[in-house]
Amino acid sequence: MLLKDLRSKFIDIFKHQHTPSFYFSPGRINLIGEHTDYNGGHVFPAAISFGTYALASKRQDQLLRFYSVNFPDAGIIECTIDELDFNEEHDWANYPKGMLQAMMQNEAPITQGFDVLFYGNIPNGAGLSSSASVELVTGVLINDLFNLENERLDLIKLGQKVENEYIGVNSGIMDQFAVGNGQENHAMLLNCQTLQFEYAPLNLKNHAILVINTNKRRTLSTSNYNERNAECQTALKDLQTALTIQYLCDVTLEQFEEHQHLIQNPIHRKRAKHVIYENARTKEAYIALQKNDLQQFGQFMNESHHSLRDDFEVTGDELDTIVHAAWEHPGVIGARMTGAGFGGCAIAIVENEQVESFQKTISEVYTEKIGYEPSFYLPTIADGAKKLTEEAII
Ligand code: GLA
Repeated sequence: MLLKDLRSKFIDIFKHQHTPSFYFSPGRINLIGEHTDYNGGHVFPAAISFGTYALASKRQDQLLRFYSVNFPDAGIIECTIDELDFNEEHDWANYPKGMLQAMMQNEAPITQGFDVLFYGNIPNGAGLSSSASVELVTGVLINDLFNLENERLDLIKLGQKVENEYIGVNSGIMDQFAVGNGQENHAMLLNCQTLQFEYAPLNLKNHAILVINTNKRRTLSTSNYNERNAECQTALKDLQTALTIQYLCDVTLEQFEEHQHLIQNPIHRKRAKHVIYENARTKEAYIALQKNDLQQFGQFMNESHHSLRDDFEVTGDELDTIVHAAWEHPGVIGARMTGAGFGGCAIAIVENEQVESFQKTISEVYTEKIGYEPSFYLPTIADGAKKLTEEAII
């Protein structure tokens, strides 16, 4: 959908002549470092060119009106700035409402409402952080409409707070950080404990990053995700009986090998093993990429998938079918699931010349085994959430 069409849509839906301001927040992929963020470890995500557009205009009264081009049947969702508590009936609009509430609780002096129209081109539930994208685009637009001076990191932290406390997913900070701080053609190595990060240029030479969507509905993802988080916390408690550590990722590989027997439940032991080895792998992968050693980087991606499949157990048939087929295909440097798992998307680094045949083969294998088709996206690596300039709109 073209941006100027979105403007007409805004005027049509909200029936007023105010010209809205435009904002965009990307989605993200994670190259490596999965389920490490809430364990105080490292992640290596990048923002992508698919994301969420928001068009907004301030109102004189205290009304808020939300509309999504993606959910036209939900119509305009309305409430006032005093009615921001989570409301099941408000469906998707709980994300922007939650963000506004978090900002107001954080002392943002907001006394007027606004009209906002959203349009997202990342599929919902695909594991590409559509929710963090909505949270951050909302934060950026509120900051701009009301001339607030929230730092980017404040918005990122508030976005995570919305996810944890308002929506109820005990997620880490990776998604909000990646969509908030993305940089064109760069991935970022983030230490989720200190929040220090470094950009790494993505020189993939004659390769592309392909995103493959399982198109599996992720109905149980929240409870599965929170369950994994809880399992990690229990493993941490067991290790804390012998080690002075705050997070699972404070444990070195040697310490883990020596003390893993302290983790009572064998399933929790496997979860901890994934987290601790994945954290080490992520740092190594970053170094490999800096040395332009793509083959080695791809190896780490593959190992990450093995570990998520066998020890963390969040892949499932759909993601495994895609990734296993990708590993067999010529010109593939590496492939793995990305994001939380339980469906969602995989990523593969594929030689440009092989992209077409890759899509054809993976699609055939997947449809034959799973019964419906996957989707493919070829995103570019993009900047973080921002206001769009007039030139970008025309
Ligand atoms: C989801 C969460 C993130 C992170 C990933 C797994 O995307 O929102 O915080 O835990 O899963 O790495």
